[in-house]
Amino acid sequence: MKITIRQEITEDHKAVFELIEKAFKDEVYSDHTEQFLVERLRMSKAFEPALSIVAEVDNKIVGHILLTKVKIKNGDDEFDSLALTPVSVLPDYQRKGVGRKLIEQAHQKAKELDFKSVLVLGHEAYYPKFGYQQANNFGIKFPFDVPPENCMAIELVENVLSGVSGTVEYPEEFSS
Ligand SMILES: CC(C)(COP(=O)(O)OP(=O)(O)OC[C@H]1O[C@@H](n2cnc3c(N)ncnc32)[C@H](O)[C@@H]1OP(=O)(O)O)[C@@H](O)C(=O)NCCC(=O)NCCS
Repeated sequence: MKITIRQEITEDHKAVFELIEKAFKDEVYSDHTEQFLVERLRMSKAFEPALSIVAEVDNKIVGHILLTKVKIKNGDDEFDSLALTPVSVLPDYQRKGVGRKLIEQAHQKAKELDFKSVLVLGHEAYYPKFGYQQANNFGIKFPFDVPPENCMAIELVENVLSGVSGTVEYPEEFSS
């Protein structure tokens, strides 16, 4: 199966909306509104177009990932980071390496844009495969009442999070 990864364009929005809806449909932890979150985040000043990425197989969009700009704040100190918000693969195309390609490509693009870390609230069995570890190992807290094993971070540049601690501040579109 040939998977093509490219930046999302405006014409993809409808297909991406539908794919996110389908990807999360049977996920028990989901509130099934992730497709609306992505629509709001595209309108946010935290949106970075180069980090909204789609995967295509036979010219059909089968996966999407969005990394959004966030800050880690500690009093007057703040540190720029990204949040993975979210990654989705159509059910028929899951477990075929599409998610992996999207995450690896998104990390690569983020590095090219000089971002140095990514945070995620997600499956504790999935993201460690890509190098994510519990965010509290770095002293980073998420503003949600969720188990610590679901709050994760990856350094895109070695040791960049040592010495960074604080609470993640998401764009306001997260809670609208
Ligand atoms: C989670 C999701 C994006 C994974 O995409 P995918 O294309 O199926 O993942 P891949 O095939 O690239 O899998 C990469 C690795 O993760 C493993 N994996 C896949 N889904 C997994 C899951 N739900 N839990 C644990 N591991 C998983 C694969 O076995 C593979 O492991 P390996 O490299 O050791 O063989 C996809 O299942 C999905 O869209 N799920 C619904 C939406 C969702 O939950 N998104 C994540 C929000 S936190």
